[in-house]
Amino acid sequence: MQGHWITPIVLCLLPVWIIPIPVSSFPQYSPCQLVKTTAVCNNAKLSSVPSGLPYNTEELQLNYNHIQTLQANSLLHYPSLSTLSLAYNSLEKLESNAFQDSKLLENLYLANNNLHISYVETSHSLNQLSHLKALDLSENKLNDEMAATLLQNLTSLEYLNLSGNLLMRLDETSFKDLHQLKELDLQRNIMFEIDDAFSSNPKLHRLNLAFNYLPCLVDFHMTQLVVLNTSHNFIEWFISRDLNDTFQLETVDLSHNNLLFFPFLPNHSHLRNLYLSHNNIRFYEQFADNNMSPNLTKTIEFYNLKRHAANVTVKLWDDSLHGDISSLEFLDLRGNQVENFPQGFIQKMPSLSRLQMCTNCLETLNLTSEQFSSSLYELDISNNRLSQIIADEGTLTAFGNLTYLNLSLNDLKGIPLPLFSSLPSLRSVDLSYNNIDICLSDEDEVRTDTSSACVNWKNVVSLRELYLKGCNIKIIPSSAFAELSLTHLELSDNPLCIDCWTLSVQQSIQSLNRTLQHLGLGNTRIQDFDYSHFKRLKFLNISANSLAHLPPSLLDLDLKVLDLRDNRMSTIPSVLANALASRLHIVFLTGNPFNCCQTDWFKTFETTKTINMVGLSEIKCEYPVQRTHLLQNVESSLCQQDGGESIFWYILLFVPICLSFVGILITVFLTLKPKMLQNSIKKRCLKPTSY
Ligand SMILES: *[C@@H]1O[C@H](CO)[C@@H](O)[C@H](O)[C@H]1NC(C)=O
Ligand SMILES: *[C@@H]1O[C@H](CO)[C@@H](O)[C@H](O)[C@H]1NC(C)=O
Ligand SMILES: *[C@@H]1O[C@H](CO)[C@@H](O)[C@H](O)[C@H]1NC(C)=O
Ligand SMILES: *[C@@H]1O[C@H](CO)[C@@H](O)[C@H](O)[C@H]1NC(C)=O
Ligand SMILES: *[C@@H]1O[C@H](CO)[C@@H](O)[C@H](O)[C@H]1NC(C)=O
Ligand SMILES: *[C@@H]1O[C@H](CO)[C@@H](O)[C@H](O)[C@H]1NC(C)=O
Ligand SMILES: *[C@@H]1O[C@H](CO)[C@@H](O)[C@H](O)[C@H]1NC(C)=O
Ligand SMILES: *[C@@H]1O[C@H](CO)[C@@H](O)[C@H](O)[C@H]1NC(C)=O
Ligand SMILES: *[C@@H]1O[C@H](CO)[C@@H](O)[C@H](O)[C@H]1NC(C)=O
Ligand SMILES: *[C@@H]1O[C@H](CO)[C@@H](O)[C@H](O)[C@H]1NC(C)=O
Ligand SMILES: *[C@@H]1O[C@H](CO)[C@@H](O)[C@H](O)[C@H]1NC(C)=O
Ligand SMILES: *[C@@H]1O[C@H](CO)[C@@H](O)[C@H](O)[C@H]1NC(C)=O
Repeated sequence: MQGHWITPIVLCLLPVWIIPIPVSSFPQYSPCQLVKTTAVCNNAKLSSVPSGLPYNTEELQLNYNHIQTLQANSLLHYPSLSTLSLAYNSLEKLESNAFQDSKLLENLYLANNNLHISYVETSHSLNQLSHLKALDLSENKLNDEMAATLLQNLTSLEYLNLSGNLLMRLDETSFKDLHQLKELDLQRNIMFEIDDAFSSNPKLHRLNLAFNYLPCLVDFHMTQLVVLNTSHNFIEWFISRDLNDTFQLETVDLSHNNLLFFPFLPNHSHLRNLYLSHNNIRFYEQFADNNMSPNLTKTIEFYNLKRHAANVTVKLWDDSLHGDISSLEFLDLRGNQVENFPQGFIQKMPSLSRLQMCTNCLETLNLTSEQFSSSLYELDISNNRLSQIIADEGTLTAFGNLTYLNLSLNDLKGIPLPLFSSLPSLRSVDLSYNNIDICLSDEDEVRTDTSSACVNWKNVVSLRELYLKGCNIKIIPSSAFAELSLTHLELSDNPLCIDCWTLSVQQSIQSLNRTLQHLGLGNTRIQDFDYSHFKRLKFLNISANSLAHLPPSLLDLDLKVLDLRDNRMSTIPSVLANALASRLHIVFLTGNPFNCCQTDWFKTFETTKTINMVGLSEIKCEYPVQRTHLLQNVESSLCQQDGGESIFWYILLFVPICLSFVGILITVFLTLKPKMLQNSIKKRCLKPTSY
């Protein structure tokens, strides 16, 4: 019974299901893909909005098409539309009634179009969108006036992207109707002035002003802002208004500017991340020492800020000027001019977890007086002028969380003896390019002073990565790494003494055979070494060591990166080549005198698609007669070995004939011009001759 009445319904439904597909303009060639209520029609050479999509479409993506005008009725069929993307078209206008039936539209993405052309009409169409929340107008060649017009009456807008336009200056009219605005992206414009532009946007909490031409940010008083990005401008001054309110700021990016002073931050804030890299920041506290420079004034006044600000008076060393940095967790001061920290500066940041000071001018670091926070996790003081680090054992117990320590590129000669062994979480230490030795085992017991010319990391069981590049190390005692489980050991560019190599260096490295993954031995004068026990090794650098052949013990390793540059290898045995080829991802081979007639290994590497031979076009080889070729262009005819005479023999025959011929020529020549012989002999001998 049931089956009887179901059948006619199914039959009736069938045509309904089948017919609409070819009938509506959504035929087989339709460029759109439907996923639930989303229609994706990107990159389809469309010049108008397709009309045959389902009535209930909520999201319509039309990016990368050729739509020039969004016509009045084109969205009529999609009353449920809430998201429309038209980025990367050549859109010049949205007709004024384009959205008259799109009452639910919330997100409109119009990046990379030409909306500067008919912006007035476009602004009327936007006015119909009473629920618009997100609007992307980036890369549309809009100037100040165009943007202000387009944004009129958009009172519901929460997210606005105006990046990559031609905005020059902002004032109180720019965003006056955007009362709900939360996030604003203004990066990559040509702005040089902001004058009270955000007073109508009390909810704004993310503001990006990166890559503009702002010369300063003074009287900063946006207490509601959480993230401020003003990187890549020309800012010399960041001065916040002296307010009692708590600023909501958590992240400030002032990197790549021209700051001379640490920014004058709000007195009360929740600031956690402060990016100040690549400025000219110094601390001027040392000028306060009136015994040294009694006539220096304590304040400097800066004029000439023109209309951008009132005159600025700065006290050189009033440390309260730094504002509230008590919540700071991340401080990036890379690439500045810091010579020392003002007294108590570090202490003011009890939550500091990462401090990046790479490329500054620090000369000493007194860990005892600075009083770093116990949550310090990463400390990078590489590329400074540190000649000493001072610490007593009591202080060091506070560094329980220190995990990454980078002291490379300094002038360190000593390290406080207890330094490493007192850091229970230490995982990675970079001491490269300092003049440091590794302590011989009995030396440290003899010495009692607090600073030692050698370093010792016994008992630092947490240590995994140790970088000792270019430290002028000659001797490594056999027990140097005995109790460690290093995964990374970098010893490149050290003149290890050749006798010590067999005596102790080999042994010390071998003791890491179960854990080591990265071993750097470039330019260390190493000779034969047995790598076969390093089953976990993935990276090996043995460049610049005058090695005449590749160590056969590499056969069983699972190497991914191998650097063999600048050795004296003439070939790679095919057994090794085959084994390496199947595993290696990157190999460096330049600077070896490979033999052009023994290049089977090269063909193996070349045909293995997974290998990247770095500098492939510069790998050279030599024929037995010492002419250098690019290995890629080797002509095997020059190396005939089976039966046919090699070119080598032809040359051997040819050379004496040429030589005799040249000899005869010279004799004839000289007989005809005897004077010239005398002259040339005189010149060669450089002896004053008396006539
Ligand atoms: C904004 O609204 C006002 C008042 O409703 C109206 O006069 C004005 O024309 C609108 N602006 C635009 C660009 O439509
Ligand atoms: C704003 O648009 C630019 C360019 O279209 C894009 O790179 C940027 O990520 C957008 N900003 C945000 C916050 O989405
Ligand atoms: C600030 O903006 C620049 C440019 O978009 C970006 O590279 C940088 O990561 C941003 N900074 C932060 C802290 O997000
Ligand atoms: C700042 O706030 C504190 C506590 O709310 C108040 O005692 C003090 O008078 C205020 N100072 C100023 C300058 O408003
Ligand atoms: C902010 O800090 C400065 C420097 O300590 C101080 O002179 C000023 O009175 C403080 N302002 C407020 C409102 O507390
Ligand atoms: C400081 O100023 C006084 C008076 O102007 C002058 O006599 C003295 O030489 C100055 N000292 C220095 C170090 O310039
Ligand atoms: C800045 O200082 C100069 C010199 O004292 C003065 O002429 C000028 O009026 C000051 N400008 C402002 C805005 O205070
Ligand atoms: C390091 O700081 C401590 C504590 O302030 C001080 O006692 C010690 O003299 C300082 N050491 C040096 C060499 O300045
Ligand atoms: C140590 O540092 C890590 C990374 O910053 C952090 O997650 C952790 O909470 C810190 N631990 C302590 C005890 O401060
Ligand atoms: C230490 O700093 C130097 C210079 O800034 C950098 O090149 C090196 O990669 C850093 N070391 C580690 C282990 O990150
Ligand atoms: C590998 O390391 C272990 C533990 O350090 C050591 O006992 C063994 O002798 C090493 N093997 C070689 C060949 O040195
Ligand atoms: C290997 O060591 C040499 C010498 O220090 C260095 O120049 C080269 O960059 C290193 N190779 C790799 C891949 O890191």
